[in-house]
Amino acid sequence: MMTNFTCSIPTRIYFGKGQISHLSELAGYGRKVLLVYGGGSIKKSGLYDQVLSLLGEAGLTVFEQAGVEPNPRIETVRLGAQTCKAEGIDMVLAVGGGSVIDCAKVIAAAACYEGDAWDLVLQPPKIQRALPIFSVLTLAATGSEMDPHAVISDLGKNEKWGTSSEHMKPTMSILDPTYTFSVSKRQTAAGTADIMSHILENYFTNVENADVQARFCEGLLKTCIQYAPVALEKPEDYDARANLMWSSSMAINGLLSGGAAVAWCVHPMEHELSAFYDITHGEGLAILTPFWMDFALSEKTAGKFAQYGVNVWGLEKGADDMDTARRAIQCTRDFFRSLGLPATLREVGIDETHFEIMAEKAAAACANSFVPLGKEDVMAIFNAAR
Ligand code: NZQ
Ligand code: ZN
Repeated sequence: MMTNFTCSIPTRIYFGKGQISHLSELAGYGRKVLLVYGGGSIKKSGLYDQVLSLLGEAGLTVFEQAGVEPNPRIETVRLGAQTCKAEGIDMVLAVGGGSVIDCAKVIAAAACYEGDAWDLVLQPPKIQRALPIFSVLTLAATGSEMDPHAVISDLGKNEKWGTSSEHMKPTMSILDPTYTFSVSKRQTAAGTADIMSHILENYFTNVENADVQARFCEGLLKTCIQYAPVALEKPEDYDARANLMWSSSMAINGLLSGGAAVAWCVHPMEHELSAFYDITHGEGLAILTPFWMDFALSEKTAGKFAQYGVNVWGLEKGADDMDTARRAIQCTRDFFRSLGLPATLREVGIDETHFEIMAEKAAAACANSFVPLGKEDVMAIFNAAR
């Protein structure tokens, strides 16, 4: 039975070519803006100049936090928050991928918090306020542009944790698919794996008859499967980029999870890989997802996996759910491979050295997932994925 839920998606989305002109609306939120961006892709593409010019025309004074790392670091959050406090910043504008938006979100929250920003990562309820957050998305992947989450790392301690707050839902996000034309094949594939993983984490739930959510999931998965190969083949195919971009937002904005009582488990496992080895999030997910599926498949779950095979991969419904389920898992594995994604931990330089501690930390979040996982189960999945 569908569980009770609240659905609130307050982020105003401007989707499509040329929507950047709406940056002028930031003037309604104050005078000083902190522009947050990454390692330089927006300078290369010309977006940086365009943003500065629009903000200038709108009469805004711009301060900058550049150099946000993929897997954004708490040190960068602290620097941005310091600037906000010292300069009396009114709002934060992220221009980039998920890492940049996540970093901007926690900067915006830490700017309104007396203590250390890391507290807000470990203890989300401490986020009581945040400066208004805006984003211009340049990579279809995390869904951070329309969700309350942020994932921040303290790599010195091998820690990477997600935090979440209604206060960190962006006020407005600009989604122009042409900004993703320059995303590399590797990041396009990793982004697709991330979007698909978000959908799968929501799809594999024990709640029965949440059919609206399940059919949304299947439609979004089919969209990713259709368009990711097109985007790889033709990076400037507008429809491919647009469909991936909107799938990214839809996958994690609450539409799929509300009422389905989902508890993610592949993400906690992947976050441990990134915490210890600083790998690309989507690549870690592409490796772990099929092995998690192998592990989760049983007489009890075969029906759900078979449904996934029929409705998403177009498999013929055979008499034996277990057989259909196995074929569906193989389709998943083959698809990720076809996008050029890694399929084993070895390929991204991970061996068994830290399996014990990573499994222990990940398992803490997996007790209520579709198939509950303990430390030994996570170890088994890591070992299979070696
Ligand atoms: O730093 P720059 O120079 O901008 O380059 C980035 C970066 O090197 C580049 N890039 C971005 N847009 C580009 C581009 N290159 C060329 N053209 C463009 N248009 O791509 C590289 C990766 O960027 P990043 O932002 O790190 O990727 P992604 O969007 O996949 O974000 C990953 C981070 O988000 C977290 C992950 O754990 C990871 O830390 N997640 C956030 C979530 C959320 N907020 O809800 C949920 C996810 O499950 C995920 O955990
Ligand atoms: Zn993810």
